[in-house]
Amino acid sequence: MTADGDLAGRCALVTGAGQGVGRGLALALADAGAEVLVNDVRVDRAEDVVAQVRDKGGRGRSVPFDVTDHEEVATAIAAAGPVDILINNAGNAGAGPFTVGRAFHDTGPADWEPFLRVNLYGVMHCTHAVLPAMIERQWGRVITIVSDAGRTGDRNSAVYATAKAGAAGFIRSIAMEGGRHGITANNIALGTMRTPLTEALWDEPDSPRAKAILQNYVIRRPGTPDDVAALALLLAGDQGSWITGQTIPVNGGYSFAL
Ligand SMILES: NC(=O)c1ccc[n+]([C@@H]2O[C@H](COP(=O)([O-])OP(=O)(O)OC[C@H]3O[C@@H](n4cnc5c(N)ncnc54)[C@H](O)[C@@H]3O)[C@@H](O)[C@H]2O)c1
Repeated sequence: MTADGDLAGRCALVTGAGQGVGRGLALALADAGAEVLVNDVRVDRAEDVVAQVRDKGGRGRSVPFDVTDHEEVATAIAAAGPVDILINNAGNAGAGPFTVGRAFHDTGPADWEPFLRVNLYGVMHCTHAVLPAMIERQWGRVITIVSDAGRTGDRNSAVYATAKAGAAGFIRSIAMEGGRHGITANNIALGTMRTPLTEALWDEPDSPRAKAILQNYVIRRPGTPDDVAALALLLAGDQGSWITGQTIPVNGGYSFAL
């Protein structure tokens, strides 16, 4: 496992890092010695996290942009300087409460667009912007946060699941292109987490909905950002240099079979 300071001298960009999983990853990377570029479309959230990084003695900068806007992403990343470690975390699971979706036949193209734009195009935009400097430096790490939904499918979230599956496939291709340049690219596939996105669900842990979800987990609790950070640090450091093209679940042993 990564010891404190292993990422000293590295610059890590975490998208959607203003709260939840991304915030946890930004703090963990800073603890490991990286300078962290904290991205969020919500500037206030990103600045709060930068303040938390600095309070702990780490180095961080707020780099606000909307991952769905290719031009904005390219300009902001060019201005920020070379990125060694990209964590594609910004995601959109739905406009309403996390767990309430709609059957695909009740949706239309206008409903699909936001999911594809953030979860798939966002990953492509950010990866496209960081790769040239990684290739020049012959070192890079691209880590994308995907979902069990992309692996297993998800009822009432078909387009979210599609976007996450697409992102995972994209990253496997980037691993193939990046290998000869010292770049690894992997996905971390999450099960249900406890973050602001899902807080409403876990506020009532004994509700039928929460119980129904947890019964599919060998470890009967939602995941936390810290559960993700340990693997992300392994993949981000030099010790992860022969792990690439993988989609690794961090999901409490999620299974349909339980
Ligand atoms: N929470 C879960 O149960 C769960 C499960 C599986 C996968 N995931 C994935 O994990 C990642 C993080 O999830 P979370 O629960 O921490 O989410 P969250 O909603 O709590 O936080 C996401 C952050 O991303 C930011 N963001 C959204 N759209 C953006 C954009 N276009 N550009 C820049 N920033 C943007 C938001 O402002 C927010 O601060 C997402 O990719 C999500 O799909 C989450």
